[in-house]
Amino acid sequence: MNILLLGSGGRESALATSLAASPRCDTLYVAPGNGGTAAFATNVELDILDGPAIADFATDHDCELVVVGPEAPLVAGIADDVREAGIDCFGPGAAGARLEGSKDFSKQLMKKYDLPTAASETFTDEESAAAYVREQGAPIVVKADGLAAGKGVTVAVTQDEALSAVHDCFSGKFGDSGTTVVIEEMMHGPECSILAVTDGTTVLPMAPSQDHKRAREGDTGPNTGGMGAYSPVPIVTDGEYESMIDTVQRAVVGLHDEEIDYRGMLYAGFMLTDEGPKLLEFNVRFGDPETQAVLPRLQTDLVDVMLAASRRELHHITLDWSPQWAVTVVLASGGYPGSYETGYEITGIEDAAACEGVTVYHAGTKLEDGKVLTAGGRVLNVTALGDTFDQARDRAYEACDLIDFKDKYLRRDIGARAAKGRSAWED
Ligand code: AMP
Ligand code: GLY
Repeated sequence: MNILLLGSGGRESALATSLAASPRCDTLYVAPGNGGTAAFATNVELDILDGPAIADFATDHDCELVVVGPEAPLVAGIADDVREAGIDCFGPGAAGARLEGSKDFSKQLMKKYDLPTAASETFTDEESAAAYVREQGAPIVVKADGLAAGKGVTVAVTQDEALSAVHDCFSGKFGDSGTTVVIEEMMHGPECSILAVTDGTTVLPMAPSQDHKRAREGDTGPNTGGMGAYSPVPIVTDGEYESMIDTVQRAVVGLHDEEIDYRGMLYAGFMLTDEGPKLLEFNVRFGDPETQAVLPRLQTDLVDVMLAASRRELHHITLDWSPQWAVTVVLASGGYPGSYETGYEITGIEDAAACEGVTVYHAGTKLEDGKVLTAGGRVLNVTALGDTFDQARDRAYEACDLIDFKDKYLRRDIGARAAKGRSAWED
């Protein structure tokens, strides 16, 4: 069958790689794709927020499955348009995508269905929000309600920081996203993500993973889209894992009770607190870069999984996993997440990809005159599989060192904290 995948990042490269590897996949279209997907799929220019245009393209090109990578098209209701055209779609419609599109909606669902999370209040005017911050004191977390490309959350150590975050939200820094603000208790502990495939009834959890959001080593510096990830997560206990799965399953029951037709990926971000795992957030799509560490370990055909989720037949599927460890390191443009230059030639990708257990996923790249050039902040994702966590880490860094481009930046400590064990989070 022909398949249309929407998106252009490292996550979409990993999705495209797994979809193209399926014997069921004939032509894979990626809109807009990147310099890597151009080599094994057909990149197409489409506005991924234009539902009717996507449904028309899929119809005209005999696509039987549409896979939505990023959150913005899901929040915009693209999956509804595709399904209305009679085409299977992996991803929730607009009603389900509110779980990511509105932090207030998400917190209300968590509260109503008694899912463990930080205590919080929601405000729609600055005065009441500021009064609440003064009453609660710092540390405290301020979140703009809507999509803000990962920049809408402030973990405020001081009251002044929290008040200025509240002011930023209400003064329009995040547009409409900030006119409603969620203020919540600060939690402590390591973070862990669970990606789960669901058809609205059956829930198939994928392996746990952890990303590294900060730009600099030692988890310092500004937040980024993610500088690296690994899977599974060695510091999670069996009890914590079971508790996280139970929470995800109860969330899907809650969505069903709310009469929300949720078919696709449910990503639950947790903090492993002393009182057990508590929800930080829900996302309605695969994580980036978590996907680049999770999918290479999945041995079940991804097209089978996605079609079964889209057709509410997930109870027929079991997910099989490689016992190997996966570590993903992001190679970024120097200056990211601030300003950076692009257009530099990248060399050594083939040598890196030839290393044992290594896959190089493109993110911010483009192909020009046969050369691969940098075209974004996060440029490449190098994933290595290994029999041990250390072997996967060593292989990933050996491959990273074979790749070169001007101003290349990477964190050298992906997985280093987890390799030391849980105590590394205690100081
Ligand atoms: P979110 O988009 O809600 O997941 O928040 C982004 C990041 O902010 C999370 O991955 C955490 O690192 C941090 N964060 C969010 N909420 C809290 C909280 N209640 N306590 C501590 N850190 C938080
Ligand atoms: N890696 C975090 C996210 O995809 O939201």
